[in-house]
Amino acid sequence: MAEKAKIAIFISGGGTNMAALLYASRLENSPYDVVLVASNKVDAGGLELAALEGVATFAQSHKGMTREDHDAVMEEAVVDAGADTIVLAGYMRILSDEFVARWEGRIINIHPSLLPKYKGLQTHKRAIEAGDSHGGASVHLVVPELDAGEVLAQAQVAIATDDTPETLGERVKLAEHQLYPRAVADYLSRDYDADYLLDRVRNLALALPETSERESHGAPGFRVGSEKSGKFFAHFNNQHHGSEHIAALVKTSGMDELMNLVEAQPEIYFKPAYYGASGWVGIILNRPGVDWDNVGDWLTRSWRSVAPARLTKLQDAADMF
Ligand code: GRF
Repeated sequence: MAEKAKIAIFISGGGTNMAALLYASRLENSPYDVVLVASNKVDAGGLELAALEGVATFAQSHKGMTREDHDAVMEEAVVDAGADTIVLAGYMRILSDEFVARWEGRIINIHPSLLPKYKGLQTHKRAIEAGDSHGGASVHLVVPELDAGEVLAQAQVAIATDDTPETLGERVKLAEHQLYPRAVADYLSRDYDADYLLDRVRNLALALPETSERESHGAPGFRVGSEKSGKFFAHFNNQHHGSEHIAALVKTSGMDELMNLVEAQPEIYFKPAYYGASGWVGIILNRPGVDWDNVGDWLTRSWRSVAPARLTKLQDAADMF
């Protein structure tokens, strides 16, 4: 497993989810450490617990401040603590769009309903009044629109006929404490997970015209053209030949370009065993902050370099519009 992610948890209240995340982080094989607990309420109960557990804390009331100014102070604390991910756990403030954009894909929230149902407040009351069989909780990525980001995981909780919002809420909390640490761990591990990375490469590669997947030397490969005369334009390597990299292999224009890339950006590119000799470059995928648009561009370029002219001509025409 790669280096651990460093999370900052934002709270406004009791912080029971924060506690669940913190204790889970101390179990063996947790992919994250909690490096900061920050709050917009100086008296949030969770701050004391975090301090007791030796976690750095930060508190700044939002009263009398603009949203942007308050966000900026919180962000500074996050950056100072060296956190790379922000996990909201009962943080009762809406973050500004600019803040959310800067941390795209790196802010996670838990919401006490089965999204997309019941965004916003009074979720348990609304689920009961609607006669739903289940309530629950959802872990989702934060995007500018409230409670609307990609759902990463959910836990269902059965609703009893005599449930009140309070009794249901208590059980949903128990479920949240199981769900949140697991969902955060899974999300933070997937950047290093070969199956997840292969899926992303596969989706990009097979979105190109007339492509198919075929194994080559025991590893997944992607070809363009017919079954008979198709050519490989990409390979996927999972720590092949003793390399520590999980990588997509694509074709460069030749050895000069390959060596330039490897020299200029060794954190992204490497010369793979065997294929490197014929100008294929490896794009390292098991690292933080992979630019998937760049991977997509490389796959397209590589596809173009081996695709039959009848296909590239069509693509050229399409590109003109
Ligand atoms: C939880 O119900 C969570 O779903 C919501 O805020 C509440 C936080 O509770 N976003 P706690 O402070 O973690 O106990």
